[in-house]
Amino acid sequence: AQLDVDAASYEAGEHESFMRKEILEQPTTAQAVLRGRLDERFGTAHLGGLDMDARDLRAVRRVKILGCGSAYYVGQMGAALIEELARIPADAEAASEFRYRNPVIEPDTLYVAVSQSGETIDTLLAVQEVRRKGGRCVGLVNVVGSAIARECDGGIYLHAGPEVAVASTKALTNMFLAFALLALQLGRVRDLSIADGKRLVAGLERLPGQIEEVLAGEADLVEVAKDLAEARSLFFIGRVRGFPVAREGAQKFKEISYRHAEAYQTSELKHGPLALIDPEVPTVALVPHDELAERNVGALHEIEARKGPLVVITHEDVDLGEVSARRIVVPRNEPELDPILLNVPLQLLAYHAAQHLGHDIDKPRNLAKSVTVE
Ligand code: AGP
Repeated sequence: AQLDVDAASYEAGEHESFMRKEILEQPTTAQAVLRGRLDERFGTAHLGGLDMDARDLRAVRRVKILGCGSAYYVGQMGAALIEELARIPADAEAASEFRYRNPVIEPDTLYVAVSQSGETIDTLLAVQEVRRKGGRCVGLVNVVGSAIARECDGGIYLHAGPEVAVASTKALTNMFLAFALLALQLGRVRDLSIADGKRLVAGLERLPGQIEEVLAGEADLVEVAKDLAEARSLFFIGRVRGFPVAREGAQKFKEISYRHAEAYQTSELKHGPLALIDPEVPTVALVPHDELAERNVGALHEIEARKGPLVVITHEDVDLGEVSARRIVVPRNEPELDPILLNVPLQLLAYHAAQHLGHDIDKPRNLAKSVTVE
């Protein structure tokens, strides 16, 4: 029922902030974006709003995702999903840069604009640039009837309900889920097997309950967050699927705690930033149970050798060996869907760090919920 309320009557209620309320709503809002769109029998998704039939979907040779800030980082997660499941080249670009480089618009590329508000001027102008040059652009948008939603050829509404806090949380989770649906559908009209399709449908159905499990561990994160809040500068590191999650984690942390937080690919540490690691600079590392886990643990040793404090977001069965780190365990799902569950603790860390510092969490300094002027 809470999803039906309009923005004006949406209140923080007993919650101390909208951000916390919105974080805690995610098990419900995640169900809303999936509802009626999953097909268990054929292991696919139905996305009527795209207004594309199987032939149109098969004609897509490339996917270009456009969004700003966190929507851009989720776009990177989405691009990785599309490449993995559909084997179509996909990438994300900051919509704020796109139109300034006179982009080549191709008829067989599917352009995807991502926006919570649907009013971000840079994303809107990027959509207009695409469509003026004859490209097809679909929207992943939360606010129904917003400018971007109206400008696009079709799209997937996010159904996250009103989001008030400047720092986006539940809308981002639903952006990722909408990308998972799109990737599934693009995949199943190509070579993604029915077995893999069913595996992912089942994984998506498990996700809301698993988000709830992560949220239930909130109390364990408070002390970790307080310590991170004391640092003048932090690193967030991850690889492949985990890298955009690290970027989003750093973004959330800096938005509301005003601490310098920088995201890096774990593999790039030794090419420069390792020089900055010392006991005053903590690292939040994403080490999911995947083919890179062992190498990632190797990088943690490098950080530990420089006495850098470590917080590791990981799965139960990842062996961190001798590394001494504060370990935050999230449940395992299908590896392609890892980003969602890895991201939830990062939301909570940012939230509790800002809370500890006494900042205005819903309205951080210098920022607006949606940037509607150039
Ligand atoms: C997210 O926490 C930020 N406040 C910001 O990066 C935001 O995601 C960006 O401005 C895009 O907004 P939109 O999704 O409404 O287009």
